[in-house]
Amino acid sequence: MDLKHNVMQAADPTELIRSVEREVKERFQGEGSGHDWWHIYRVYQMAQRIAKAEGADVHITSLGALLHDIADHKFHGGDLTVGALETDRLLRANRADDATIERVVRIVNEVTFKGAGVETPVSSLEAACVQDADRLDAIGAVGIARAFAYGGAKGRLLFDPDCPPVWHDSFEAYAGDKGATINHFHEKLLLLKDRMQTNTGRQIALSRHRFMEEYMTQFHHEWEGDDA
Ligand code: ADP
Ligand code: NI
Repeated sequence: MDLKHNVMQAADPTELIRSVEREVKERFQGEGSGHDWWHIYRVYQMAQRIAKAEGADVHITSLGALLHDIADHKFHGGDLTVGALETDRLLRANRADDATIERVVRIVNEVTFKGAGVETPVSSLEAACVQDADRLDAIGAVGIARAFAYGGAKGRLLFDPDCPPVWHDSFEAYAGDKGATINHFHEKLLLLKDRMQTNTGRQIALSRHRFMEEYMTQFHHEWEGDDA
């Protein structure tokens, strides 16, 4: 057998996903700020569902979902470039071919929300699936839990009536904001249903959005002590 040839051969797509999944799971185990392995798991499940419904490449979408937060800017001093580098390194180490690496790196570069006033266009259907899946995990019941978990980890107030939400026109302004967690609903979460990239994502976002609206109404009633 030609061992040298064997070593250079690109990994089988299913095997590649399995090994990337194993590695990502190991790295995210125990992370508690809303970016734990189970966030990756949910995005991975949802991205596959959307990809199947939209006719996207499920393998590429899966890899993008698994790697989309591999080097999140929030843990790298706001640096948005680390994710692409780390994705490239990890895929290369797992013998992905160049075309796959290029497509997945492009997804990782296009997922992150950068502020209400900043557009985040996607250049492939697969990136649309991953961006929608990631944003769906930021809304609804799980999204609410994640927002407060994040706020708690950062020592933020639940709500501060004296501190209104801000419209962020740049990624720096968004990433540097230290407002109360309820502001984040107006600054990001409630905007997401209108920013879905796929019809499937848009449809799933609707009921999660309605749930958040109901939650917000109840929250403010309880805040003033005038709930039923
Ligand atoms: P993305 O996943 O698009 O990179 P973020 O990194 O901005 O988006 O958000 C990741 C998670 O952390 C989401 O669930 C988001 O709602 C939550 N989060 C980010 N910023 C805040 C904040 N200021 N307050 C509460 N939750 C936040
Ligand atoms: Ni994410």
